Amino acid sequence: MFRRTKIKFVSMYTLVFFVILCIFGISIYLFMYKYSYSSIDSNLNQKAENIIHNEQKEIPEENERESERRVSYLYWASSGKLVKYAPEKAFFKRDFAYFSPKNHKGKIRTQMIEGHSYRILTVKIPEIILHNRHVSIVQLVYNIDPEVAMLKMMLMMIGFGSIFGLLLSIFVGLFLANKALIPIQRSWEKQSQFVADASHELRTPLSVIQTHLELLFRHPTKTIEQESETIYKSLKEVKRVNKLVEELLMLARTDSNEQLINLRHFPIGHLLNEIYEQFEPIANLKDISLVEKIDKGLHFLGDQERLHQLFVILLDNALKYTAPQGKIIISCQRELNFIKIIIEDTGMGISEIDIPHIFDRFYRSEKDRSRTISGGTGLGLSIAKWIVEAHHGHITLESKLNVGTKFSIKFPVKEHH
Ligand SMILES: Nc1ncnc2c1ncn2[C@@H]1O[C@H](COP(=O)(O)OP(=O)(O)OP(=O)(O)O)[C@@H](O)[C@H]1O
Ligand SMILES: [Mg+2]
Repeated sequence: MFRRTKIKFVSMYTLVFFVILCIFGISIYLFMYKYSYSSIDSNLNQKAENIIHNEQKEIPEENERESERRVSYLYWASSGKLVKYAPEKAFFKRDFAYFSPKNHKGKIRTQMIEGHSYRILTVKIPEIILHNRHVSIVQLVYNIDPEVAMLKMMLMMIGFGSIFGLLLSIFVGLFLANKALIPIQRSWEKQSQFVADASHELRTPLSVIQTHLELLFRHPTKTIEQESETIYKSLKEVKRVNKLVEELLMLARTDSNEQLINLRHFPIGHLLNEIYEQFEPIANLKDISLVEKIDKGLHFLGDQERLHQLFVILLDNALKYTAPQGKIIISCQRELNFIKIIIEDTGMGISEIDIPHIFDRFYRSEKDRSRTISGGTGLGLSIAKWIVEAHHGHITLESKLNVGTKFSIKFPVKEHH
């Protein structure tokens, strides 16, 4: 599944990179091509202007250095015969066939002669007499071999560069794809695991309900009272499914980054005290002493309903995993810029192996998996952690087997006036 995505990603990346590289290379080449030719042409035009306006009767390049002499001049008679050319030895006799000025007046063209490239400007000049002939057409011939060689070289470099870039982009693409896909793959696996666990958790109570309902059909004449045990068990499982589905829904919504937190100022000390009062009779029934050290005047900016849920999850665990004659302490105090809430019990504790996983979804310590103690699902603490973190808080736990467990929560407080 991820292989195909990777291949797709790499080919897309490589293609885009290659196209950009090609466009870049071609633009540079075109720019250089235009630039070289236009500077040659303006040079030629400049020299032609000099001949026309200064009415130079003699060949103008004689006051140029040898190394600057890239332009040759060809003087043509009106009849179409070559009268003179300079510098001497610039061409062979056979070359002149290529330079016929007919039909090229005022135009610039490129001519290849035996492997050399020339840019030729043909201009009409005011008539002069040379070697007893009327000369009215001059050709300026510019040897553009260096420019052509440079452009060729450049094209080659761009070509090799593109191929090199293509190979490089494949490697970079593969590297990036691997890097980018790791977290996606991980969260995908986590999500699949979550769905598998959820289905598994749902299947058990559902099959229990089904069995019980089938049992009811076996004795259709019995009254509800006679079957109350079966009905009660089914109802209990229905409640479990209900709770589970609600928790799953909430976790799914937290995963999709929905806005689930409704911030409001509320008296958090008051809330905790209320929960304390609710749990006290239950603790009494189990012969557990519930002690509170709550600063009742504390206020907090947070989601009251979610925080209620958080404290119920923790207290429910403390009660569930603490034996009779145990003790549970709830404390809530202000500490500098934090509100610190501690829920501590003298219960069965959590083994060191379990501690790192205790906030994972569906995680229950080995001994609880048999569900002799509780009908829990193992989602409670993962929801608790999410609620704490949604309030930018921290939850930590200390625990020792058979000694007790202590959950500490720290919420940062923003001062308000
Ligand atoms: N106070 C505690 N003392 C000892 N073990 C605890 C305590 N709190 C949690 N645990 C361990 O952590 C596990 C996960 O707790 P969690 O609340 O997430 O699930 P649960 O209580 O099993 O099920 P439920 O979803 O119904 O709360 C529990 O199964 C238990 O083994
Ligand atoms: Mg629990």
